[in-house]
Amino acid sequence: MQIFVTRAIPDVSLRRLAEALPDAQVTVHPGPGLLTPDELVVAARGVDALVCTLTDRIDAALLEALTPPLRVVSTFAVGHENIDLEAARRLGVRVANTPGVLTAATAEVAVALLLDAARRVSEGDRFTRAGNFERWDPLAHRGQSVYGGTVGVVGAGRIGLRVASTLRRGFDCEVLVHSRSDPRESESGPEWAELGARFVSKQDLLAASDFVSLHCPLTSETRHWIDAAALDRMPAHAILVNTSRGAVIDEAALVRALRDGGIAGAGLDVFEEEPRLASGLADLENVVLAPHIGSATHRAREAMGRLCVDAVALELAGRAAPNRLV
Ligand code: DGY
Repeated sequence: MQIFVTRAIPDVSLRRLAEALPDAQVTVHPGPGLLTPDELVVAARGVDALVCTLTDRIDAALLEALTPPLRVVSTFAVGHENIDLEAARRLGVRVANTPGVLTAATAEVAVALLLDAARRVSEGDRFTRAGNFERWDPLAHRGQSVYGGTVGVVGAGRIGLRVASTLRRGFDCEVLVHSRSDPRESESGPEWAELGARFVSKQDLLAASDFVSLHCPLTSETRHWIDAAALDRMPAHAILVNTSRGAVIDEAALVRALRDGGIAGAGLDVFEEEPRLASGLADLENVVLAPHIGSATHRAREAMGRLCVDAVALELAGRAAPNRLV
């Protein structure tokens, strides 16, 4: 049995894989650079299972080139827009991801970005480091108070719910939520009800929220969900936070809105053309930028590794992983 891992993942995950499949030959791309699609086809030729991450493009051409013998793709991520699930289904390749275990970690970063952008913490850090802090100033560095504000959560999955709950319980925020399907009908319906969340249209959420936090997957429907028109609809004091996928926002339109006072600030953990930033973004003081660290805690990354390698072992043994996508 051969398994190829496209990036270094926590050692503990690789040890677990070796224990579960002692006869398997596991090869890990040493990095630090990413494999190009052409290099990946060559490196993974002949493997039974592929462990990938969100930085690998697992498209139909790659899956066709590797199948057979490829039987399993397990991604070290919850987001899976980089994988052609339809092609995998057609070719009989099982695909798994890592849901659930990074909810708290990602929600923490969303709230951290929101607080930072609203209270201008990173901006103040730059100011202080530059030696500009000469005296306390009654007029300087004023931002938005989060306490008692209205947060609009886009996407009613686990992470959106955790962010809503943190802001409701910790900051007494009013919660608005918009999602594709009505979460009141879903398993988490009672939890949303407990938060007193109101389910509203996109237009109402944008117009009525002081803070908008994005938690939807990237699909053809959500690409550029926040475009120039959406930004126009938001109040000038609003803060936009994105820990989902960069392309949910039209980044060029966001740069214009931040520069021209269309909205007050933003906190971004993800970017449209990651790791490249849209022109002008890094020059703005009113945006907090993070290098896609939503799941970057020791606990979350180890749990992701566990789910990821367990799926490989289960699927190679012909058993359905609980986190199987197709
Ligand atoms: C994911 O898992 O999709 C996150 O973006 C990175 O952990």
